Amino acid sequence: MKSRASFVNCNRKNGWRDGVLGDSWFSPAATGGDHFMERHDFDIPLTFRHRVIFTRGAFDAGNLALGEILAEGGGRKALVFVEKSVAEAWEALSEEISEYFSGLDVALAGVRVFEGGEACKADDSLVKAVWEEIDTCHIDRHSYVLVIGGGAFLDAVGFATSTAHRGVRLVRFPTTTLSQDDSGVGVKSAINAFGKKNWVGSFGVPFAVINDFRFLESQDTESSRAGLIEAVKVALVKDRGFFEWIEENAEALANMERVPFEECVKRSALLHARHIALGGDAFEAGSSRPLDFGHWAAHKLEALTDYELSHAEAVAIGLALDTIYSRKTGLLAEAEAARILKVLRVMGMATHHPEMDAVDENGERKVLAGIDEFREHLGGRLTVLMLAGIGEGVDVHEFDKPLLDESIAELMSLCELSMKTVG
Ligand SMILES: NC(=O)c1ccc[n+]([C@@H]2O[C@H](COP(=O)([O-])OP(=O)(O)OC[C@H]3O[C@@H](n4cnc5c(N)ncnc54)[C@H](O)[C@@H]3O)[C@@H](O)[C@H]2O)c1
Ligand SMILES: [Zn+2]
Repeated sequence: MKSRASFVNCNRKNGWRDGVLGDSWFSPAATGGDHFMERHDFDIPLTFRHRVIFTRGAFDAGNLALGEILAEGGGRKALVFVEKSVAEAWEALSEEISEYFSGLDVALAGVRVFEGGEACKADDSLVKAVWEEIDTCHIDRHSYVLVIGGGAFLDAVGFATSTAHRGVRLVRFPTTTLSQDDSGVGVKSAINAFGKKNWVGSFGVPFAVINDFRFLESQDTESSRAGLIEAVKVALVKDRGFFEWIEENAEALANMERVPFEECVKRSALLHARHIALGGDAFEAGSSRPLDFGHWAAHKLEALTDYELSHAEAVAIGLALDTIYSRKTGLLAEAEAARILKVLRVMGMATHHPEMDAVDENGERKVLAGIDEFREHLGGRLTVLMLAGIGEGVDVHEFDKPLLDESIAELMSLCELSMKTVG
């Protein structure tokens, strides 16, 4: 009672009144009774602009895309982080960046090069190094951090940027197929911890995403092709027409023919972005995670293989597994499942890894622990997306373990026949 009285007086003395509180602030209902309880709910509307650009040669003098984006935000300073393998593949990049900025009203604080790959998410050393650079270069919340690299590098630098000063503007330049067709346009960033994928992280909409197709030219062909798996995934859960287009172009995509390849990356990125912007749950407060089809097994397999298996490869396995499981549970028609598996085969996606068969001391497959970890990461009730048809996802809330075991065995036998195993 005492603390309530002083709280009311304090606000009264300061002359503070609030439209929502109004006169109820002093009404008997608000102040009387043995158990003081007063509740005020505020809806806080927030709108973010998600700027997604496709281009080639973003730092060419005549390319206005980046300059326009930076001018739109009004910031006056930028600090650039480049993944080492990208800096090595594009030796003139630092110079090109410096020259590009010399024509802008935005000062370039520096270009910093760090190692990327999954290892940069293994601990917080890159995150801390990025914080230090942001501090040393006096980058504030109106300045920009540009990050150029693969999905893992974007994740680690993105997480550091989203926590420095509680969030500095981030412009992402994804440089792998997977990061261009999926993670770059995402609104999450994270590093790994406690032996689990993406355990420490944050949600936040980047200031802009610039998908520069030129960077994809230096990625090795196998990984670049594997990165198309996220396009297959988003087509399967969101867009039957896109899946059919992939099906028709599967061979051309496997051969990395430039025109269909870039179209595939673009359509996938836009489908992901559209889902995030219009799906009603950008920051994943609910339990449904349609963009994570095939990911419960994928994330576990990555951790089980100590990240030797890439995210793309792991997703291909998880996606094939959940396709077979969807069919075995009667959700997905036999013919549709066969079409999906055929596309994976034609596109050269690996769909098995020996770690799928590893068992724990109780004889249970280790990969199955991924189900519980998936639930725990998301919170609430177990919700995993399966397929009811091509382009049609459906949430399920429990697994039939014997059927799941059969599905893994079938995946194994398929690989012995004609599909690919990694590891
Ligand atoms: N935040 C999200 O929403 C989200 C979504 C999907 C995936 N991810 C994360 O993304 C990561 C996977 O990303 P990835 O597939 O890009 O792998 P990656 O970042 O590990 O890159 C793969 C390899 O390619 C190299 N590389 C990158 N760009 C290159 C280029 N242009 N030329 C030559 N080499 C290049 C890297 O150094 C690395 O060795 C995973 O950690 C995954 O969890 C995050
Ligand atoms: Zn993924």
